[in-house]
Amino acid sequence: MAFSIEPLSDSLGAEIRGIDLSQPLDNKTFARIEDAFHAHSVLLFRDQSLSADQQVAFTRRFGDLEVHVLDQYNHPDFPEILIVSNVMDGDRHVGIYDAGKYWHTDLSYMKVPSRGSMLHAIEVPTENGEPLGDTLFTSTTAAYDALSDDLKERIETLEAVYSLGHRFSRLVEDGDTDAAMTEAQQERAPEVVHRVVQPHPVTGRRVLYVNEGQTARLLGMSDAESRDLLDTLFGHIARPEYTYRHKWREGDVVMWDNIPTQHLAIQDYALPQRRYMHRTTLRGKALA
Ligand code: SIN
Repeated sequence: MAFSIEPLSDSLGAEIRGIDLSQPLDNKTFARIEDAFHAHSVLLFRDQSLSADQQVAFTRRFGDLEVHVLDQYNHPDFPEILIVSNVMDGDRHVGIYDAGKYWHTDLSYMKVPSRGSMLHAIEVPTENGEPLGDTLFTSTTAAYDALSDDLKERIETLEAVYSLGHRFSRLVEDGDTDAAMTEAQQERAPEVVHRVVQPHPVTGRRVLYVNEGQTARLLGMSDAESRDLLDTLFGHIARPEYTYRHKWREGDVVMWDNIPTQHLAIQDYALPQRRYMHRTTLRGKALA
């Protein structure tokens, strides 16, 4: 199948044009898409119309899928789909309404984090015809490469604690009175330890793996030192030169590699402006 690949920014991302993801893809076409995924880290497919089962089927071409630990937001018929939405059904959130509020990479709080995620935009909020609720992506490979040699040496063997509970504590501190995890969710997602610098499992390139939303602290130093170094790294990761800002259109499918990228969802909309998206999440491999 003929298709084109156009870069989206200097640091990461590419748009793939000429593919209908609702149709089965031959192995050669799929292999080219997977190569583009590793080369560009974020892929955009515009004007897609994917049912829930078609999205699951396409994501499965890459490997096994996760069923998200925050199971109250999983699709009732397709548990591999996490609903990302601000829409309410009475007083119940139909989806995770605050996903991506802090820079993060998906499931970094699990012992085996996710390989990649795919978000299909079904409803996009707008104001005066302009989309709201953009998503920013940053290249943590570019961010790592740009660190000074001293800083690279300092963090090379460091380890950090990652925790979904940490994200919930931040939400509560920021005034979200609905933010809570059940006991079963806390048991399924206990604190884990990962190295701060990770090699990408396919490309081998080093990435800066700490993230604002889910990294609680660095090991082997005082809390104050850990806070200070994390703040330096978080500020560095978010620098505009490593980022691509995606303005959503209904029918967009964006997939990202969770190892060399982080993302942040801009929450500049509110009901009756509706944002409704389906996310599938690829299972990863144990980190280094
Ligand atoms: C996410 O963090 O997976 C969702 C990002 C978004 O809603 O734009």
